[in-house]
Amino acid sequence: MNRYEELARTVVIHKKNRLMRYSDALELVGKGRSAFVFRIKSSDKAIKLFFPGFMHLAKEEAEIYHVLQNISYYPNIYGAGLNYIVIDYIEGLTLFDCIAQGQLIRPNHIKEIDYALLLASKQGLNPSDIHLRNIFLTTNGDIKLIDVARFRQQKNCAQWNNLKKAYEQLYRKRFFPKKIAATYLNGIAFLYKKGFIPSYRMK
Ligand SMILES: Nc1ncnc2c1ncn2[C@@H]1O[C@H](COP(=O)(O)OP(=O)(O)OP(=O)(O)O)[C@@H](O)[C@H]1O
Ligand SMILES: [Mg+2]
Repeated sequence: MNRYEELARTVVIHKKNRLMRYSDALELVGKGRSAFVFRIKSSDKAIKLFFPGFMHLAKEEAEIYHVLQNISYYPNIYGAGLNYIVIDYIEGLTLFDCIAQGQLIRPNHIKEIDYALLLASKQGLNPSDIHLRNIFLTTNGDIKLIDVARFRQQKNCAQWNNLKKAYEQLYRKRFFPKKIAATYLNGIAFLYKKGFIPSYRMK
C-alpha cells in the first residue's frame, strides 16, 4: 500500500458526511459539497477525500487533472484511489476569502481566469462549476483553479459569466465595498442558487 493510500484510509467519514477521524499527518483545509480536503503536513500536497456518495468523482477528477497537466493554472496530480486524489496544495486565498478579507481582485486576475478556462476548453473540456471557492489567488499573486470534476459535463454552466458580469457591474464600481462578510456572501450565493437574482440566472 502506498503512502497516499495509507493516509486516505485514516479518514473516516460517517453518514451525513460527518468527518469522524483522520491521521495526525493531515490538516483539514477545506470542505465542499462532495469532499473534505487536507494538507499532507510537511509537504506541498493536498489530499481530497470524497464523501461516500461521491466516490465516483475521484476517478473522474483524476482523469480531468491528467488532461490539464501541462497548464500551470491547474494543480499537478500525484495519485488517486477509489475515493481520493492527491494534488498540489495551494498556498493562498480563494476568491471567496479574498472578498471576505478585503484582498483586492484586479482586472488582470479576471483575464487570467478567462485564459485558464480557455486553455481547458482547448483541451476539449467544458469548464463548469466555476465559483468563488474554486478559484485561488496564490500568495505569489498567481491564479489557480481547482475542483475540475465537472469539466466534462455536457450542459453549459453560466456561473463564470455571471461572476464576470458582477465583477464589471458591481465590484469595479467605486461605491461597491471591497470587503464583504462571509455570512453575507453565503447569503448572496444562496439567493443566486435559488434563482432569486433575476439578472444573474444560473442557466
Ligand atoms: N489543492 C488545494 N489546496 C488548498 N486548499 C484546497 C485545495 N483543494 C481544495 N481546497 C479547499 O477545500 C475546499 C473544497 O475543495 P473542493 O472545491 O475541491 O471540494 P468540492 O466538494 O468538490 O467543492 P464544491 O462544493 O465546489 O463541489 C476549497 O474551496 C478550498 O478552500
Ligand atoms: Mg469546490
